[in-house]
Amino acid sequence: MSAPARVLELAGASVLVFADRPSACRAAANQLADTLRSAVATRGRAVLGLATGATPEPIYAKLVGMHREGELSFAQVATYNLDEYYPISPFDPNSYRSYMHRHLFSHVDLPANRAHLLDGTVPEAATTEHGEQFDRWIAADGGLDVQLLGLGRNGHIGFNEPLDLPVDEALKLPTRLVDLHPTTIADASKDFGDASRVIRRALTVGVATILAARSILVVALGPNKAEAVAQSLHGPITAQVPGSLLQSVPGKVTWILDEPAAQALQG
Ligand code: F6R
Repeated sequence: MSAPARVLELAGASVLVFADRPSACRAAANQLADTLRSAVATRGRAVLGLATGATPEPIYAKLVGMHREGELSFAQVATYNLDEYYPISPFDPNSYRSYMHRHLFSHVDLPANRAHLLDGTVPEAATTEHGEQFDRWIAADGGLDVQLLGLGRNGHIGFNEPLDLPVDEALKLPTRLVDLHPTTIADASKDFGDASRVIRRALTVGVATILAARSILVVALGPNKAEAVAQSLHGPITAQVPGSLLQSVPGKVTWILDEPAAQALQG
């Protein structure tokens, strides 16, 4: 297993910088697997908060590999995904339900009734209640042992987009329906064919729910993420850079970066 090239302590977080993308993804998969195993060993079960997007794909491939080798079981695991487009059918290949099925759920022994995603088909009038219900499910499951996060180029976490909001209000944001930011829509156009086809809204797990996880693992890879990484770790805590809100929970956040994503960090 490759060790990080550099370890930094920044803004209350451990920042592990790896020489390249494969070693960063390997480290992230190992960290998730360790959290899963230790939660199962101590409490008999593990509760994982999961992300979608390009970053976690190789991480899920590693977890699937560990499962195939008989090194990792999801039989005692519950998962809660960060977000889902709205509205969207779960059968749409662009739904995050489909993504999770493709990359993880169909390859491991996770019981079907423990793989939870926000539902892009709930009536619009029920989305607030659905978000509250999702937060209640997580709490009733004992809370998240770990929340896996990617980072948007605009600093978003989940689909908590940059907002003009006082920090104390941003920290309390619950799971809810949101409008996607133009940068997010531009980045999603590769999945939908072009920007005009991108679904403009999403249900997202809230900032408060993310911060309540017992540990948070943020993975950011590539030069496109360098600015958002630096703003999240060096900048002030502000709702304009949602990644910076992670500074409000010192001691529980680990960042896994490759060198290109870490290039704007000092220290
Ligand atoms: C996905 C999610 C997003 C992504 C972020 C980075 O569930 O919540 O915040 O993690 O947009 O996406 P990639 O990994 O595609 O660069």
